[in-house]
Amino acid sequence: MFYYPDELIEEIRLNSDLVEIVSEYLRLEKRGAGYFGLCPFHREKTPSFYVEPVKQLYYCFGCNNGGNVFHFIMNIENLDFPEALRFLAERAGINLPEPDDTKEQHKSRLRKEIMEVNREAARFYYSCLTGDIGRMAQRYLFERGLSRNIIKRFGLGYSPGEWDALTKHLLSKGYSEATLVEAGLCIKNKNGKLYDRFRGRVMFPIFDIRGNVVAFGGRVLDDKLPKYINSPETLVYSKGRELFGMHIAKKNIEKKILVVEGYMDVIALHQAGIPYAVASLGTALTNMQSRILKKYADEIIISYDTDSAGKKATERGLEVLGRLGCRVKVLQMPDGKDPDEYIRKNGPEKFKNLADRALSLLEYRIKQLKDEFPQDSIDGKMAFLNGAADILAEQDNIVEREIVMKSISRDYNISFDALLAETNRRISRKKRMEKSKEFATAKKELTGSIRPSSFDRKKGMRRRYEMMLISLLSRENHLFREASERYPLSCFSDGTIRETAGILYRRLSEGNDFLLEEFITKLNADTASEIIHLVKSSCNFENPEKAMDDIITKLEVIKLEEEKKDILMHLKNITDMDEKKQLELKLQSVIEKIRMSKQI
Ligand code: CTP
Ligand code: MN
Repeated sequence: MFYYPDELIEEIRLNSDLVEIVSEYLRLEKRGAGYFGLCPFHREKTPSFYVEPVKQLYYCFGCNNGGNVFHFIMNIENLDFPEALRFLAERAGINLPEPDDTKEQHKSRLRKEIMEVNREAARFYYSCLTGDIGRMAQRYLFERGLSRNIIKRFGLGYSPGEWDALTKHLLSKGYSEATLVEAGLCIKNKNGKLYDRFRGRVMFPIFDIRGNVVAFGGRVLDDKLPKYINSPETLVYSKGRELFGMHIAKKNIEKKILVVEGYMDVIALHQAGIPYAVASLGTALTNMQSRILKKYADEIIISYDTDSAGKKATERGLEVLGRLGCRVKVLQMPDGKDPDEYIRKNGPEKFKNLADRALSLLEYRIKQLKDEFPQDSIDGKMAFLNGAADILAEQDNIVEREIVMKSISRDYNISFDALLAETNRRISRKKRMEKSKEFATAKKELTGSIRPSSFDRKKGMRRRYEMMLISLLSRENHLFREASERYPLSCFSDGTIRETAGILYRRLSEGNDFLLEEFITKLNADTASEIIHLVKSSCNFENPEKAMDDIITKLEVIKLEEEKKDILMHLKNITDMDEKKQLELKLQSVIEKIRMSKQI
């Protein structure tokens, strides 16, 4: 499962600062020795996601997800371990040798081939568009206002209407059938014959940020359905990772990006002198897309349709971008037009004026509220006032808060003082709640030694204590000898837990140092989370010797109790008097041992 030497893995970990990396996904605030933020793995309003800068561990007190930088990347990027390793190595500028695993090698070769064949396909589509066969398609694009120049810049093309124009072309260039299928360009029919996925469509190549052609979208020339078809997900293309137009938009110096819905919107905007438009490819913004946006822009303007799907996508976009700490604005097109239609009708200048007046997040929220509640009734007004106070209380910038409050009180004929009082009430309540939450967290961290009683009732008690022992030993290496004598590896429960203990025991018995934060690299996300949970909340091991003794004693009792249960079971089925007597004696001694252990 692990292709790389431990030292290399550890080098990558040490060169991937967890605080820095987490900050690329969410906003962290320093509190005490660590950082808190809104957990990216579950929905929450107050931060319970904790990052420990010294140990380089994270832990969420809300959903118990925890681990080191590898687990974080695996979870948030949805990668397996080798992929996360590669991801972080690239980021840290560490050269990762090609894996000697043949499957991985095959994959990376295929990736290269797919990008190559995609580029060849794009060339083919472009030559079709500019040739005789593409006359209709060309006219279509011209009629939609596109210039020859912009068509070239975006590499637009045309896929001929025949069944296998592209297939034939690519096969003649020497590409294998398998590659064409893997690239999503061709489909195999029931008889095993290949045909083109895109036929009779205007073609939009989708470039990744480095300018590789990773996929295509294709539009019909008329009103037939489906209007667009797109490449499937392939080894080089995943919808949620790419932003159409980003390879050009990333170069713009204004450090802002306008996010729209469609291919044609992006192209029309670029032609209109707005080279920082991108499209999220028909979906709401994903985490990954948001991260890319944050990297290249200080300000992100979302301009989705105003229909209900568009509104939902706007909300989702605001949420992910907000979590990253991005400055976000919302640009709503009048009359339900999309940017492409608006520019065609009103020209680029009008559009730019409109874009300059994009709403801040706060203004947008207030506007939504206004649309929701009618202003002509007392009830409606009250609901609006309450909602507005909720929204205002979330706004940290006092100046903007005040400006918006003034304009609300003017526009909606609501007294400024009432709005201020309602808002302040909510702010103090929020502060109070944060205080008590902080207190609860601190208390958890400070609890002395261990609290066996809270686990006694639970099932899987043995597992819990074994995990505790593992996390204790990973911090207090010097206790290993005594612990392993009293509780050898063979005592551990079967499965992951014994594997985990095995790694630890082996390392320690060889006299190697052992660091929890390094060790957990080897564990799956659940086990890592569990260990960190124990380290963080169940035991601070202020007195490690006592903690070890408590834990092992507890484990011994559990073991004896299991023995007792076994004997009792046996006794029921035994008829032989001698055997029965012996067992009863054994039972007595076990019971005595349990009593003794509990006394200590
Ligand atoms: N989309 C898609 N598949 C569909 C419909 C839409 O992938 N069947 C994506 C495309 O990226 C499209 C975007 O969603 O550009 C927005 O869709 P829509 O508003 O329906 O189309 P427009 O971009 O306005 O296309 P056009 O102006 O060419 O009609
Ligand atoms: Mn459109």
